[in-house]
Amino acid sequence: MQDPWLLTPGPLTTSMSVKQAMLRDWGSRDSEFIALNRRIRNRLVAIAGANRTHVCVPVQGSGTFAVEATIGTLLPRDGRLLVLVNGAYGTRMVRITQVMGRSVTSIETAENVPVSPSALADALAADPTITHVAVVHCETTSGILNPVSEVAAVCEQAGKPLIIDAMSSFGALPLDAAHVPFTAVVASSNKCLEGAPGFGYAIVRQDALEAARGKAHSLSLDLEDQWRGLESSGQWRFTPPTHVLAAFDRALTEHEDGGGVAGRGARYRRNHQVLVDGMAELGFETLVPRALQAPIIVTFLMPADPRFVFETFYDALRQKGFIIYPGKLTIANSFRIGCIGRLGEAEMRGALAAIRETMAEMGVSSGAPAPSLTPVPTGT
Ligand SMILES: Cc1ncc(COP(=O)(O)O)c(C=O)c1O
Repeated sequence: MQDPWLLTPGPLTTSMSVKQAMLRDWGSRDSEFIALNRRIRNRLVAIAGANRTHVCVPVQGSGTFAVEATIGTLLPRDGRLLVLVNGAYGTRMVRITQVMGRSVTSIETAENVPVSPSALADALAADPTITHVAVVHCETTSGILNPVSEVAAVCEQAGKPLIIDAMSSFGALPLDAAHVPFTAVVASSNKCLEGAPGFGYAIVRQDALEAARGKAHSLSLDLEDQWRGLESSGQWRFTPPTHVLAAFDRALTEHEDGGGVAGRGARYRRNHQVLVDGMAELGFETLVPRALQAPIIVTFLMPADPRFVFETFYDALRQKGFIIYPGKLTIANSFRIGCIGRLGEAEMRGALAAIRETMAEMGVSSGAPAPSLTPVPTGT
């Protein structure tokens, strides 16, 4: 029996062969498993175009663990982080830094407005105590794409290390160290590379990692210590998620076979186009204009028709084999539909047919939001 298709930002639908790769037990100190880890780490650095400058350090846990490990390892105790915020994951990086007791500031823009490289340049000029900058590539809260190339250029000009949370974009949207000078990119196993959840990873400049020795706030989240362990023995310091790593290795092979970042991005762009066009025909409106939207996840504004009840809509789609995602916005009532995972045009068209049928069952003739719901972009 087919599980429901996950139209969510991860965990997401994986291929049968990725699932089957988990049907083996691995000795974590065994040479075959050590080789598998080396292969994964090398492939991830290659995807980032960073072979000569960066190394890959995986860490147990979800994506947030990897973000926390990266900030805690790279930001010195007397450092100060500036986070560009336009959604929940930017806000989370501020919170992570506050919890570890390190200095942090932010520049906030509205959830439907990209972060501003010029505001960043002004802030760096005005506050010389800022030592590091962090930004989210695709802010999954809304699905907006942030201008990371421009942000990286400003950071390079100012000599500030940049941490990019590319959790929901890495592997599908280009992020190449040769064009985007970053110090660290962070992502996880269960997003655009289509693995199972269980670990995150950072692709970090080796010189920055070496300079961070002994600076982390935590033992288990110390990326420099984790890296030295992996380099010296090929082994994880603490129990690795063996099955998830085996699945990820298989997922990376499928990523390569499907044309790498360009191939994955093209499939997701097609999914996105089919979804947004089909939803527009039903009257739905997106939060973010198409030009600012990443082909990862789409935020739709809640329909004005009082007969549209999100929970009923969600349950009916679930019954028809599609799982969607609630909204996470603060500025408008909304829900989200993802375009990522082992899905193609046929599944997106299937979802649209299920949505059309569900609307008819609910007696809702249009997905149009109330005019007051359509947020006007604010901020810079
Ligand atoms: C951009 C971004 N950052 C961080 C996270 C946190 O990842 P996790 O939920 O795996 O901890 C997510 C999760 O969706 C994300 O989309």
